[in-house]
Amino acid sequence: MNTYILAIESSCDETSVSIIKNGAEEISTVVLSQMDTHASYGGVVPEIASRMHVENITMVIEECLNKASMTMDSIDAIAVTYGPGLIGSLLIGLMAAKTLAFIYHKPLIPVHHHAGHIYANNLVKEMEFPLIALVVSGGHTELVYMKEHYSFEVIGTTLDDAVGEAYDKVARVIDLPYPGGPNIDKLAKEGVASYTLPRPLDDDSFNFSFSGLKSAVINLVHNEIQRGNEIRKADLARSFGDTAVDILSKKTMHALKKYDVKNLVVAGGVSANRWLRNRLTEECEKEGINLIIPEMKYCTDNAAMIGAAGYFAYKLGRRAVLSLNAKATEPLK
Ligand code: KG4
Ligand code: ZN
Repeated sequence: MNTYILAIESSCDETSVSIIKNGAEEISTVVLSQMDTHASYGGVVPEIASRMHVENITMVIEECLNKASMTMDSIDAIAVTYGPGLIGSLLIGLMAAKTLAFIYHKPLIPVHHHAGHIYANNLVKEMEFPLIALVVSGGHTELVYMKEHYSFEVIGTTLDDAVGEAYDKVARVIDLPYPGGPNIDKLAKEGVASYTLPRPLDDDSFNFSFSGLKSAVINLVHNEIQRGNEIRKADLARSFGDTAVDILSKKTMHALKKYDVKNLVVAGGVSANRWLRNRLTEECEKEGINLIIPEMKYCTDNAAMIGAAGYFAYKLGRRAVLSLNAKATEPLK
């Protein structure tokens, strides 16, 4: 018997709804990005994000069902991101999911946003266990050990800034438009790594620190401006990107060795980064590690990944009551 999950994601600036079959097959997904609106402010404005979710959520649900040529009758359960994220944004998706669950008498499945990012990999290929997941987004940088489905042991995390946040701040200081990560990624292609930058927490632990690296770039730019020197933006983007990718890759490969794991999955917005993808692909080939990195469209926020995670949560009997609340911060579980 096939299981169809209708999933809703609205934790930040994407209103997205998806229907996923058996946790692995995408039937239809609609992603309505607010990026162009927020770009003029240089970052996501939470109040605007919530309002846009309100305006769009019903339409996105309808469009997703229409695209799939399905009705709510054939849906087995509703999965929804309940956190972490912007509280106002989360609440809109959550209210929509609760309403559907209530009216159509469907189970409501709570999905942690990062579990969603990890399970995006199951849409590419069936995930095999045990595995290490590298979760790299605008809000988090984590190494997670998974012995089996839905067992998350966070073995390392950032002690300060998330790597995506560092990308965005560095982009801003060299006047690249929001969102910064993809623009640094692109500009780095034209540069050489000629700036020397610090490598915070470059040790054997699985924790990360990106605030020192970010501040070093910001200070360097300010000092050069004060001295009247020109900033070689492409070189700086390349130097910063190379340093960040090198730290992420080294720690990930070290975790695979220490935990004697042969499977690596990569998740979160920063996994769209071409340098990180290339470096991990190379290293994993060398070490005989099975690597899955989601297609670009599954790297940034989308509801397909919530549908994939939601399926396994559903199979494990996870259910939410209608009083489920949104959580701005929440440990991975
Ligand atoms: O997972 P995501 O879409 O939202 C969060 O849950 O945070 O990740 C967004 C982050 C942003 O910081 C963005 O700049 C970064 O992912 N990002 C990238 C790239 N594409 C998105 N960072 C580096 N290189 C990219 N190509
Ligand atoms: Zn995300």
